[in-house]
Amino acid sequence: MTTYDLAVIDGDGIGPEVNQQALSAMKAAAARFGFGLETTDYALGAQNYLDTGRLIDDEIIGRLQAHDAILFGAMGDPGVAPGILERGVILRIRRAFRQKVNLRPVRLYPGVHTPIRDLDPERCDFVVVRENTEGLYVGGGSTVHEGTQNAVALQESVNTARAIADVVDYSFRLAQQRRRKLTLCHKKNILVHAGELWQNIVDEHSSRYPEVEVDYVHADAMCQHMPMAPERFDVIVTDNLFGDIISDLGATIQGGLGVAASANLNLDGRAPSMFEPVHGSAPDIAGRGWANPAAAVLSAALCLASFGQGMAALALETATASVLGELSALAGPGMGASTEEIGDRIVDRIVTGSVEEHGRREGSIMTAMAAI
Ligand code: NAI
Ligand code: MG
Repeated sequence: MTTYDLAVIDGDGIGPEVNQQALSAMKAAAARFGFGLETTDYALGAQNYLDTGRLIDDEIIGRLQAHDAILFGAMGDPGVAPGILERGVILRIRRAFRQKVNLRPVRLYPGVHTPIRDLDPERCDFVVVRENTEGLYVGGGSTVHEGTQNAVALQESVNTARAIADVVDYSFRLAQQRRRKLTLCHKKNILVHAGELWQNIVDEHSSRYPEVEVDYVHADAMCQHMPMAPERFDVIVTDNLFGDIISDLGATIQGGLGVAASANLNLDGRAPSMFEPVHGSAPDIAGRGWANPAAAVLSAALCLASFGQGMAALALETATASVLGELSALAGPGMGASTEEIGDRIVDRIVTGSVEEHGRREGSIMTAMAAI
């Protein structure tokens, strides 16, 4: 029996609450689909920083490196200044483990409320593949005459053919397993240097994946097309900044932070990938048992997919989708059920759902990811 070795970073606020449900779902799938799960907890995040003054050190990075994957909850506390944990822990992990792809599925599940009026869920199922380590987010640049009327700030965007090619190749492989359409999102009419490099690399790969249709959309136009015509997209590949922006728009279209999942993928197979809900620690609702665990469970599903456990991943997704559909039919404030109740129902569905129900769904991100 294959056993997967997971590092679990619960973090703060609702992080532990939703991660617990994600782990229960993974364990239920492990029992049903015949694989093992071992977990090691790492106390990292705002509380740990406030208690010990430590963020993450080389020793912990070394221990994390040995795991098959990292399941991450959320980090943050009003007592810790913004940026400290993002740079000190999250970005540190993404860089140390060369997690070049940030993957964000944007699927509207039936019954989930979206602010886009009359959007049929059938029309909304695409994936944003964001380059995760470069672009404007490398932190390079300089400021001169700081604090004066003549201040000048330069912010550099780094774009390497190597990272772009890796991310573009992954996107083509994903598109090939789905509806065979890839859209490059950039602003190549204005950002001519970076834009040309991205377009050239997409064109080069296109000849190797002739069955994948290739398209291009400017980042600003993307913000109109995504909500109005989401059916136009299958896999969208883009740089770090545009990806950050359009994937948040995607989260809104699919029903918000309660359902938005993500993966930070290492592509060379020599370091773990990390799976996390898009939301933060939500201090406003922490401890009340109101957090929606769906985003965390769907992130755990992406983790199983990355292991090649497509059926188990699909079982988590199918169970979550069906429970989300029931919840919105319930009366009452918020979700109409507690974090734990939702988690229990998802587990129940994973255990009892017919295998047929979990059958191979053509083009699901879960089966597509598991296949590559
Ligand atoms: P947030 O995502 O924690 O919360 C935004 C709003 O959405 C809140 O009203 C919250 O109650 C609600 N919400 C979030 N997730 C929910 C869920 N699963 N179910 C129901 N409602 C949910 O963002 P916010 O408030 O800006 O940040 C809070 C803390 O989290 C900050 O310290 C921030 O730095 C950190 N943060 C951490 C992230 C991470 O760990 N990757 C990502 C984003 C923020
Ligand atoms: Mg963001």
